[in-house]
Amino acid sequence: MNNPVLFPAGEAAEAIAVIGWALLIGGALIFAGVMALLTRSLNSHEPPRRLRPALWLIGGGVVFPAVVLSALLGWSIALSARLGAPAPAGALQVSVTGHMWWWQVRYRDPTSGADIVLANELRLPLGRPVVVGVNSADVIHSLWVPALNGKVDAVPGRVNQLVLSADKAGVYAGPCAEYCGQQHSRMHLQVVVLPPREFERWLAAQAQPAATPQTELQRRGRQAFVEQRCGACHTVRGLGAADAGVAPDLTHVGSRLSLGAGTLRNDPGALVAWISGVQRLKSGAHMPSFDTLDAPTLQALGAYLAQLQ
Ligand code: CUA
Repeated sequence: MNNPVLFPAGEAAEAIAVIGWALLIGGALIFAGVMALLTRSLNSHEPPRRLRPALWLIGGGVVFPAVVLSALLGWSIALSARLGAPAPAGALQVSVTGHMWWWQVRYRDPTSGADIVLANELRLPLGRPVVVGVNSADVIHSLWVPALNGKVDAVPGRVNQLVLSADKAGVYAGPCAEYCGQQHSRMHLQVVVLPPREFERWLAAQAQPAATPQTELQRRGRQAFVEQRCGACHTVRGLGAADAGVAPDLTHVGSRLSLGAGTLRNDPGALVAWISGVQRLKSGAHMPSFDTLDAPTLQALGAYLAQLQ
């Protein structure tokens, strides 16, 4: 993942990068010009009258800033109007809800129309605009995918709209961009841009109910999941738990790139480390550390969750 601000991967981010570069280069040139004039005037032995102070004051102090700032204002108003324009017809609709400290993501199943609830990962089809409805379940968060567009606040009680359109496949960072408490820095949405066919296959797989455990270890893991009442907060579709929405849906947790909203890279070992040591890894998260479970139970839980592809 390269620096997303300097290497935009979508039209909106490109427009923001151009205005950013214009401000940086323009500001640097004006600063250098002012410093050159200052040096010249400090070293000049000419009497002040010859320098025509009135001309410099009116020209450099009034006319020049008025022209430059008016041009920038016009440019930024036009850009804001373009970035805030309604999404074109045929755009994909997704909703993203901020929670302390993770993101719930909802797609609509194109076949059945039912909601597909996921967490911490947003996958997008290459070249097709996606309208993201952003809101919050608790405090104000802010969704920022710098490679694709500017920030949009996630505010409880309202839905803000963000249009994402990617023209390069890849994995992009989506950090929370509004301080929201202790683990604000561990609240990452990973954005994965896929070729359209691959995206459709992925979405169809995510719409499926949870995979059935195949090995004895995985079956013991599922039993432990039920006995430890993990389903009181986490949903695994098909396991009888209601969609409580208070914790990430785990139906396809094994297919995700990371755990704990970007805290760990996802693999069976990381799943065990996470379950037994949440509070060490992400202190203040709403899940307790299950550090009293014995090693075989933890291993079985890790194996069960990892096969939920
Ligand atoms: Cu959520 Cu910062």
